[in-house]
Amino acid sequence: MKKTICIVGALVAVGLQACKSVQQKGIDLTVKPGAIWQDTNQEVINAHGGGLLKRGKNYYWYGEIRGKSASEGVSVYSSKDLIHWENKGVALAKSKDSTSEIAVGGLMERPKVIFNEKTNKYVMWFHLELPRQGYKAARAGIAVSDNPTGPFTYLKSFRPNGNMSRDMTLFVDDDGSAYHIYSSRENYDLRVVKLTADYLDVTKEDTLLFSKHREAPAIFKKDGKYFLITSGCTGWDPNAATLHSANSIFGPWKLEGDPMRGPMAEKTFDGQSTYILTVDSKKNQYIFMADRWKPKDLKDSRYLWLPISFENGIPLVQWQNEWKIK
Ligand code: GLA
Repeated sequence: MKKTICIVGALVAVGLQACKSVQQKGIDLTVKPGAIWQDTNQEVINAHGGGLLKRGKNYYWYGEIRGKSASEGVSVYSSKDLIHWENKGVALAKSKDSTSEIAVGGLMERPKVIFNEKTNKYVMWFHLELPRQGYKAARAGIAVSDNPTGPFTYLKSFRPNGNMSRDMTLFVDDDGSAYHIYSSRENYDLRVVKLTADYLDVTKEDTLLFSKHREAPAIFKKDGKYFLITSGCTGWDPNAATLHSANSIFGPWKLEGDPMRGPMAEKTFDGQSTYILTVDSKKNQYIFMADRWKPKDLKDSRYLWLPISFENGIPLVQWQNEWKIK
């Protein structure tokens, strides 16, 4: 009797396996910018102001966990195809200790994670605002983990070389050097600072990129050239994006205009930049990622992912109601 059950079980397992591979062949890799995006448990993805990291065959998506307005820590999701995301839980939790810098009541925004090849650690930087101080503190927060899905351990926060630090992103260059790009001086300045070799601190190589009142930096590098998309500073309300290019990350940065094309291009399609993912540099595949903020219910803010195209070597982002990941 036991044997029969076992055989039937095996047949069912083989059947399921076959079924799975058929599904995988027909897998739908359509991106619908602005639509509700659910994870593999059919829960709406809560990862705003996010950034991506690829390790091996896996992508990790880190972002702000938002309630209606509250900042509830940093989430992490994983995927192999950039469409089907499994919720891996809270990467960095709020502290229950009310005296902690990351206690409930403060803000953790725009988390970005990079991997350090020398220390084998995953390093997270984010915009930290201290509890009950609004946006006054303007600090960079740093956390670390041995695993991409965390849990991350909070280490410290500071103002890089004494400079205010609000909207930010991280960038790892071809030689392994990492940089923190950040809005400073009440967001009038955009600065870049090189990180120490362990990525846990800043060096003194800290430069003003430009003073144009910009935030929401998203950067990528193609054929030796750096491209930086930023937004204006109008809070949650959308505004026009600009693109700058440079041959060195420290500048000089040249204004290339507004890279958005299509309906509502002059308002970044009702969104704000957060990250640019290099999917495959040889095939020229890059994805521009933005948030369509809903200030009345931040957790319902939507994700705008659009492919980057190139015209005479200059990146453009053309609106599409839907498109497929190749
Ligand atoms: C801008 C920033 C966001 C957030 C809001 C708050 O949109 O880019 O990260 O700080 O302002 O108003």
